[in-house]
Amino acid sequence: MITASAPGKIILFGEHAVVYGRPALAVPVQQVHVDVRIRDGHRPGVWIDAPGISLHAGLGMLPPAHPLRTVIESVFQALGVATPHPSIQIEIQSSIPVASGLGSGAAVSVAVIRALAAYLAHPLSDEKVNALAYETERLHHGTPSGIDNTVITYSRPVYFVRGQPIQTFKVARPFHIIIADTGISAPTKESVGDVRKLWEANPTRWEAVFDQVGEIVRQARESIETGQNHHLGPLMTQNHALLQEMTVSSAELDQLFQAAMQAGALGAKLSGGGRGGNMIAQVLPENAEKISAALLEAGARRTIITRIG
Ligand code: PMV
Repeated sequence: MITASAPGKIILFGEHAVVYGRPALAVPVQQVHVDVRIRDGHRPGVWIDAPGISLHAGLGMLPPAHPLRTVIESVFQALGVATPHPSIQIEIQSSIPVASGLGSGAAVSVAVIRALAAYLAHPLSDEKVNALAYETERLHHGTPSGIDNTVITYSRPVYFVRGQPIQTFKVARPFHIIIADTGISAPTKESVGDVRKLWEANPTRWEAVFDQVGEIVRQARESIETGQNHHLGPLMTQNHALLQEMTVSSAELDQLFQAAMQAGALGAKLSGGGRGGNMIAQVLPENAEKISAALLEAGARRTIITRIG
């Protein structure tokens, strides 16, 4: 039997502007993960078991554009596995909430790619895993920047610039964030599309907004690398205001933002595509439980307190 896992991820700074070539910072979130197990099947063909989404099906029974089908077939193709496929039983377990900005889709892809490649005795480089996972993201998310698959593949803090070689960065002093889920699916494809419409209607204005985001991201990276963590909260709050301007916040996200700030967070912002999904807040560890309780009180479906670095 072969197993592989992939963590969740969270974007700290720079979502949306990253689609337009600005940098973004993202980190893995180890508290949630996807675990894939592969064993020899007892019937011909590839069988998939994903109890979390009530999926029990043969590969060929899935629609051709199903993300699991496309990712599995892309691995077979990359490794030159001939059809009919071997008898394989693939079991997928995930604790990453779907469409919440924690990268569940990319984590499933990365874990499935690694497990299949190992099962077929053909381990792939991180670079290749990342490229295959990006292909699947592209089929399902329109014009993704590639940040999700990159952070999850490398499982390290990443300073991401679309189309550039991956840069990881050091966390000089650990800091803490709370991730609070609105419980509403983030319609990332739609929000990315709406930001594009804004940009098309007035590129000069939005390029300037994206430049401001890029500057926040650079300052945040420098603060993290030099241990000046007290700058991070205020930078998050500035980034949130720019995301509001891009129309990707929502009443629920703003309510969690307010609740975190009132309970003593150092700064906060939405994370990911927005209009749902998660809000993140920088907190001092001694205040984390209190702020988490305030967020649950304000309607968060769940919270994760995570230490970065
Ligand atoms: O919703 P998430 O966490 O998958 O992030 C989307 C991030 C965007 O910048 C909005 C889009 C992208 O492809 O980078």
